Amino acid sequence: MKILGIESSCDETAAAVVEDGRKVLSNVIATSLEEHKLYGGVVPEIASRRHAESISGVVKEALAQASCTVRDIDAVAVTYAPGLIGSLLVGVNFAKGLALSSDLPLVPVHHLRGHIASNYITSDIEPPFLCLVVSGGHSHIVSVKSYTDFEVIGRTRDDAAGEALDKAGRTMGLAYPGGVSIDKLSPEGDENAFKFPVPKVSTSPYDYSFSGLKTVVINIVHNAAQKGEDINTADLAASFQNAVVGCLLTNLEKAAVDFGFNKIVIAGGVSANSKLRSRAQEMCDSHGWSLNIPELKYCGDNAAMIASQGYFEYLGGVRADESLNAYATMPLDDVQY
Ligand code: KG4
Ligand code: ZN
Repeated sequence: MKILGIESSCDETAAAVVEDGRKVLSNVIATSLEEHKLYGGVVPEIASRRHAESISGVVKEALAQASCTVRDIDAVAVTYAPGLIGSLLVGVNFAKGLALSSDLPLVPVHHLRGHIASNYITSDIEPPFLCLVVSGGHSHIVSVKSYTDFEVIGRTRDDAAGEALDKAGRTMGLAYPGGVSIDKLSPEGDENAFKFPVPKVSTSPYDYSFSGLKTVVINIVHNAAQKGEDINTADLAASFQNAVVGCLLTNLEKAAVDFGFNKIVIAGGVSANSKLRSRAQEMCDSHGWSLNIPELKYCGDNAAMIASQGYFEYLGGVRADESLNAYATMPLDDVQY
């Protein structure tokens, strides 16, 4: 079965053709990132306009690279939630039009379920497993019971890990996205140079909080500026990254032990982080657990992951019609169409 996936939840306009959920035939991504860099973050208006301009060309290119026409496609899968509403609507409306005009089934896909599925295209892993999903908007520990049955065990109570990295990077004067800049700069710094507290979260031992760590960075930078002192940005970046990765893995490890998982998966934009990847490997090796993290090119937003998850949702009987809407927020383990 060939699924055409369409993704437009943030600043990437993406389309891909994936066969039977795991074999990527094409994966095309256009991004408006360079324009957003000017403003230090994604400007929703600009992202929506660029999606509207790029989407037909990106879908055509994805079909061409897969040596397909729309007649070779068995279903259209589209990200409908969560994300920037104006951005999501471009993909959803395009997918609805294409599905209707080509008489193809339309499959709505939750963006974070797509991130988890990026592991199906880079390895042969099958559920059940425990997954840390870390992106710009979400930080979740998820029990993946089957391809379409999920339970969120832990979540951030405030900022997502990626959001905290991006905001801290901006405070340090680094280029957007801060997560990428911090990852690049950190090897030049001493990760023990600055001490960060361990955030206390009262809701659950698996929940996260990153806004306090981000505030520590803001205070360090502002205090130094007021005193006219220089700080070593590489030291601060490395120390902050180490603190964020430490929090992510502490709760993940606890959840894996408490719920008895020995298959660990990481997904989402922050899964590209080199420190997270290496420390997660050490953690899993020390317990004898398996670890899957997508290849770097599938960590960030892409449509191959949407086509992959779309395949499994399709097999599970999920269908939408032309009344499908987009939603800025939507729980991963209790989706509505
Ligand atoms: O999944 P994603 O591409 O988009 C969302 O769904 O949010 O994630 C974007 C996030 C941004 O916060 C970005 O800074 C972060 O992923 N990110 C990284 C790295 N690459 C992307 N964070 C840390 N290290 C990286 N190498
Ligand atoms: Zn994402």
